[in-house]
Amino acid sequence: MSTTADDLREEVRRRYAESARAVTEESEGCGCGSACCSSETSASGVTQAVFGEALYDAEQRGELPDAAVLASLGCGNPIAVADLHEGETVLDLGSGGGIDVILSAKRVGPTGTAYGLDMTDEMLALAQRNAAEAGVTNVHFLKGIIEEVPLPANSVDVVISNCVINLSTDKPAVLTEIARVLKPGGRVGVSDVVAEDRLSPAERAARGSFVGCIAGALSKGEYVAGLEAAGFEDVSVEFTHEVADGMHGAIVKARKTDT
Ligand SMILES: C[S@@+](CC[C@H](N)C(=O)[O-])C[C@H]1O[C@@H](n2cnc3c(N)ncnc32)[C@H](O)[C@@H]1O
Repeated sequence: MSTTADDLREEVRRRYAESARAVTEESEGCGCGSACCSSETSASGVTQAVFGEALYDAEQRGELPDAAVLASLGCGNPIAVADLHEGETVLDLGSGGGIDVILSAKRVGPTGTAYGLDMTDEMLALAQRNAAEAGVTNVHFLKGIIEEVPLPANSVDVVISNCVINLSTDKPAVLTEIARVLKPGGRVGVSDVVAEDRLSPAERAARGSFVGCIAGALSKGEYVAGLEAAGFEDVSVEFTHEVADGMHGAIVKARKTDT
């Protein structure tokens, strides 16, 4: 029986709901092991900082409730590259336990707003609790899918996301939605898993699962072409660390055209 896009999305939702429940119930780890984006232990037994909290510096972790840090399942640190300013409106696609929304809210200050969008009720509840504990009030968590963002056109200054776009079953729709909600001249600063162009989709799938943030990764060339087709300029995709053979954590940046 073939797996449809709806089946895959439901599988993603179920796995990340489990992960949120594990953090909420204070059990060890993300609760779904290698079935979620998570740090892996090498043959030498050393845990490699390829996913999660280790990608944030100690100062940033110090600004956050423990549960927000523990829930981190990203593959980079979009706040480090998004260059946020006071008063800006930020949208985090697939906000999970809220780590990047809370950090964004602190950067844009009381005159700015940070939105987190996620489809998983358990993650949204965890993020709300974490934001309340962090004492940030300029945050809004929205339930929805990143392929149909529930915000008006031209309403956001910066779109961030951390290891989520690879989980989408319709990436052109996500990139089109980012372009729609951004104001003219608005910026994208996304962390994601990205494959080297030499790897076919089958070769990417051989290196890890879809829910584990590997099989659904775009290649660098596909990312650049997709963003340009959606109306972005100054597009760059920079590999930061290898997460599997030929697959990398990457910082993706772009700017919506001014007109
Ligand atoms: C790998 S986790 C990353 C969470 C968070 N960005 C972080 O850095 O910890 C993926 C998150 O994206 C959400 N997600 C995955 N696909 C989604 C989609 N199509 N629409 C909305 N949320 C999605 C999941 O519910 C989960 O919370």
